[in-house]
Amino acid sequence: MANNYNGVPLLYYMHFIATLLLSPIFWVIIVIRELFHRPKATQVQGEVAVITGAARGLGREYAIELAKRGCHIAVVDILEDAAKDTANFLSESFNVKAKAYKVDISDYQQLVEFHSKVVHDFGDVTILINNAALLRPSNSNPLDYEEIQKIFTINITSQVWLNQLFLPRMKALNHGHIMATSSLAAVVVSPFTQIYGATKVAVRMYMASLRTEMKQGKYKITVTTIMPTFLNTSKYALDFGVLSGTECVAPPIDGKLVAQQSVEAMLQGREEITFPRITSLTCKLQELWPTWLRDALFGLLYPKIDMTELHNRIIAQS
Ligand SMILES: *[C@@H]1O[C@H](CO)[C@@H](O)[C@H](O)[C@H]1NC(C)=O
Ligand SMILES: *[C@@H]1O[C@H](CO)[C@@H](O)[C@H](O)[C@H]1NC(C)=O
Repeated sequence: MANNYNGVPLLYYMHFIATLLLSPIFWVIIVIRELFHRPKATQVQGEVAVITGAARGLGREYAIELAKRGCHIAVVDILEDAAKDTANFLSESFNVKAKAYKVDISDYQQLVEFHSKVVHDFGDVTILINNAALLRPSNSNPLDYEEIQKIFTINITSQVWLNQLFLPRMKALNHGHIMATSSLAAVVVSPFTQIYGATKVAVRMYMASLRTEMKQGKYKITVTTIMPTFLNTSKYALDFGVLSGTECVAPPIDGKLVAQQSVEAMLQGREEITFPRITSLTCKLQELWPTWLRDALFGLLYPKIDMTELHNRIIAQS
């Protein structure tokens, strides 16, 4: 009996047939689970959270949400003054311990030093939120080569480094939460998210793989990926939306609400969440389209942008 067809092992065709046959059964289970599964958020009072990019924007909102629940917070940011302001605000408003750390997360040595410092100051870290990132839309207009490298380092490599530093202790305690900020750009194609989208897809897949490993090893460590559209907590994102015209296609949403729901989702152990939630279904349906159709539609949908000029205008405004 031939065990391949057109040079392709038959097993690959069987993956397809099994997926097709199992889908209806799975959909029944999925719908029932969505209707009745209401996981409880775990308590995190007295635990220690490390949040990168926490001086402002979404990171700061994450910090506030966790401090409200009695978590001590290490505020990690390259903006020292803003990080100190946030840490002071947290400790004064919520009766928790909070401290600012000035760290350039694209520098591995600084991460190693930060790791020892934070463990010395706070003890075991059981919550890690990888949120810091460098905002810079791009298309094929040339960016400075060092900048390209920096974007990849900050937006994906640093997350891998940080997880490797903090995970061993979480595994030993068999307890922890890891959350990463990816983006809707991990699932929606656009002409100006080349490097951005690439790093965000990388974050999503890296987290998915890590989550599978945690499930396989029966670790009580949750791994959550957040994929929001433009948020109104980021001034750069707001300016970008207005000046580029993308605001008409993808209007910004409330960053504070996204932070509240993300932290809740992380503590419930949810896996991946898009904001707005409905976009997840939209994207899954679009995945069924042929690629040429999707590419053509999205090319038409989004405005043509001179990225270099736009970036300079946004910088000039702020
Ligand atoms: C890196 O990630 C941040 C946060 O999601 C994003 O705002 C930024 O645009 C990304 N940088 C680039 C250049 O892709
Ligand atoms: C973001 O949007 C929400 C809801 O529209 C609004 O209440 C909030 O004030 C906005 N936040 C900022 C920082 O603009």
